[in-house]
Amino acid sequence: MTTMMSASTSITQPRPSSGPETFFRKRIEKNKSTVFRTNVPPTFPLFTRVNPNVIAVLDVKSFSHLFDMDVVEKADTLVGDFMPSVSYTGGMRVCAYLDTSEPKHSKIKAFAMDILKRSSATWFPTVLSELDSMWSTIDTEFSSSSSASYFVPLQQCIFSFLSQCLVGADPAASPTIAKHGYAMLDLWLGLMLLPTIKIGFLQPLEEIFLHSFAYPSFLVSGGYNKLLKFVEEEGREEVVERGVTEFGLTRDEAVHNVLFVLGFNAYGGFSIFFPSLLGILGSDVTVQEKLREEARAKGGSTLSFNSVKEMELVQSFVYETLRLNPPVPTQYGRARKDFLLSSHDSVFEIKKGELLCGYQPLVMRDPMVFDEPEKFVFDRFTKEKGSELVRYLYWSNGPQTGSPSESNKQCPAKDYVTVTASLFVAHLLRRYDSIACNSSGSITALVKAK
Ligand code: HEM
Repeated sequence: MTTMMSASTSITQPRPSSGPETFFRKRIEKNKSTVFRTNVPPTFPLFTRVNPNVIAVLDVKSFSHLFDMDVVEKADTLVGDFMPSVSYTGGMRVCAYLDTSEPKHSKIKAFAMDILKRSSATWFPTVLSELDSMWSTIDTEFSSSSSASYFVPLQQCIFSFLSQCLVGADPAASPTIAKHGYAMLDLWLGLMLLPTIKIGFLQPLEEIFLHSFAYPSFLVSGGYNKLLKFVEEEGREEVVERGVTEFGLTRDEAVHNVLFVLGFNAYGGFSIFFPSLLGILGSDVTVQEKLREEARAKGGSTLSFNSVKEMELVQSFVYETLRLNPPVPTQYGRARKDFLLSSHDSVFEIKKGELLCGYQPLVMRDPMVFDEPEKFVFDRFTKEKGSELVRYLYWSNGPQTGSPSESNKQCPAKDYVTVTASLFVAHLLRRYDSIACNSSGSITALVKAK
């Protein structure tokens, strides 16, 4: 990589932070640039075949090259140069690891978009009913204790509505899955991704133990196989069948991809995103007040897709949460050819095969694009200026104004995720007058709507 013009720092004052954020901030300062070479885990000594060298892209302009499929290739780059063993996914490379140049990517992406489209009729009522039962569980716990942990009920709720919406399989039909399905997914996700996850409190041991060898899949294969059986036996027959007849996949490819979409993409994403929403909402009474007013005034008698879409403040709050807490913080892409990469003020020569690494929490605080970038401004994405900014919101691996398709790698559920999050917030604020959460995942105050 050769700098053709002098680069300058474009991220504002560091705020107290840890892990990757400090890591990248320090190097931005040292390099006086938001584009530079560095190393990321997992690394030496046991990952001998993983190349830790990356080119960090940490401002909006340089990061956006990751969406340009003419210059960037995405084969096996989901979590960097390291790729979890395919034994975690039925011995095959599932959609998220495929590049757009691979014909199978088009087939599976179209299949995933079809699953979402066909689930749209049941999506809202199912989410609402699962939210009601989750909050009832939390109410019961709260009635006999001064605080209630929301993690388990929330994960069960997410697992249940996604299983029903995406595959037509109700966990309630299988006692083991109803009780342990979400935890089986947690374990599967955790072990598969452990070498790439930063778990701050274990430092420095985490580098040695967690980032230094891949965990054997047999530890989780029991749970994975039970979930597979659940999808095959309880899921709507036509979900997997359409993968075979309409999208040209083998039955095995269809089943393993459905489970990956359900367990990794969807469950994994919402399990990270919803706690962020709750944590932020539960710590700001003023924001609650403003959003509550809107959710009650515009929601009608029952929340619907259309009524939620009308809630400008709720939607902006969801976008702002995604801006400052992108659930998938790191994105990678490999240069498909030699090309010139631009930041706001410099141009860099990138060589074919080099790996670009974007850390979104910093990119989304680019001061050239966002005013007061470090601050949570809940109505940032409202009015004319706010609607302009939406195109710089990148949580879905593409702009929020973009269109997921077979020829790009943007999350096909881009709009489902934001509208479901708005529904989550509006439903909560109609059910309760106020809520307080602490940083360790507990609700410490909950006042029912009068
Ligand atoms: C809060 C929830 C979600 C988040 C945060 C999320 C985020 C993302 C991100 C960042 C990517 C791109 C990864 C990369 O290549 O770097 C992605 C891809 C993908 N997501 Fe989502 N997602 C969520 C929900 C869902 C849901 C509900 C589905 C269900 C269909 C889904 C299906 C997919 C698929 C199939 C891909 C791969 C796209 C491709 O290979 O072209 N996601 N998601």
